[in-house]
Amino acid sequence: MFPWQKLRKFTGPLISLRLGTQLLVVGSSAEAAAEILKTHDRFLSGRHVPQVIPRDSHVLRRLALIWSPECMDTWRLLRGLCRAELFSAKAIESNASLREKKVGELMDFLGAREGEVVSIGEVVFSTVFNTVSNLLFSNDLARLEEKGMARLDPQRLRRQLANLIEGTFARWTINVKERRSSFVHDSPKRDFLDVFLANGFDDDQINWISAELFSAGTDTICHDIRVGDVRATEEQRSYEES
Ligand code: HEM
Repeated sequence: MFPWQKLRKFTGPLISLRLGTQLLVVGSSAEAAAEILKTHDRFLSGRHVPQVIPRDSHVLRRLALIWSPECMDTWRLLRGLCRAELFSAKAIESNASLREKKVGELMDFLGAREGEVVSIGEVVFSTVFNTVSNLLFSNDLARLEEKGMARLDPQRLRRQLANLIEGTFARWTINVKERRSSFVHDSPKRDFLDVFLANGFDDDQINWISAELFSAGTDTICHDIRVGDVRATEEQRSYEES
């Protein structure tokens, strides 16, 4: 029996516990669980927003998909656009040649450095970053030999992340303004930026959702490739030892 099941003799089906700075609410009956997971699921489905995210929750409510404090209108709109324009089978298929091109560039880059030590994590990061930047803006935004991200000091993360984000947004805004001036409604959409413009997004919205998509897309894939690389090396080592 969990401790809160014992506590229920003295409390109602909802118990709140403060664990350090976190408030944890436990629903300890089938009815309370249904209220939380079904009736009020949208209000209660937002992710916990870490302190380093340099925006207040009322701003995130208007801009964010991943860091949305709850899954209401903005989340629904952004989720729908991503599902239709980025993650649908049709969208994935129509971007196959872009992915092949980027992997080809990665292979050429590595081929030209045969025998040299290469930081595979950084090169893969830039490849994935450029794949996402082409989906969003039809442009390469990284060079393969550059570091993807400046090193961050954990003690001053929020400030550093804020500076990094503001600098990046300032550069993106120039591209966005250029595209906005030549954008024609109802013409075929080239990339996700055209989709944002067709939906009347302002610069803040475009910058923020683009940053979320970059971080969601690059870190996950780079991590998977590094894990795959470590596993392959371990397998090869144990094969050689056996
Ligand atoms: C191997 C690659 C990937 C893995 C393992 C992965 C994993 C995940 C997981 C587990 C979640 C759910 C998180 C949660 O509910 O708290 C998620 C959400 C999400 N991912 Fe990925 N992801 C990958 C690649 C990508 C890429 C390439 C993109 C976009 C370019 C992307 C965009 C998103 C977005 C926008 C969400 C949030 C959806 C929402 O809030 O409804 N992911 N991903």
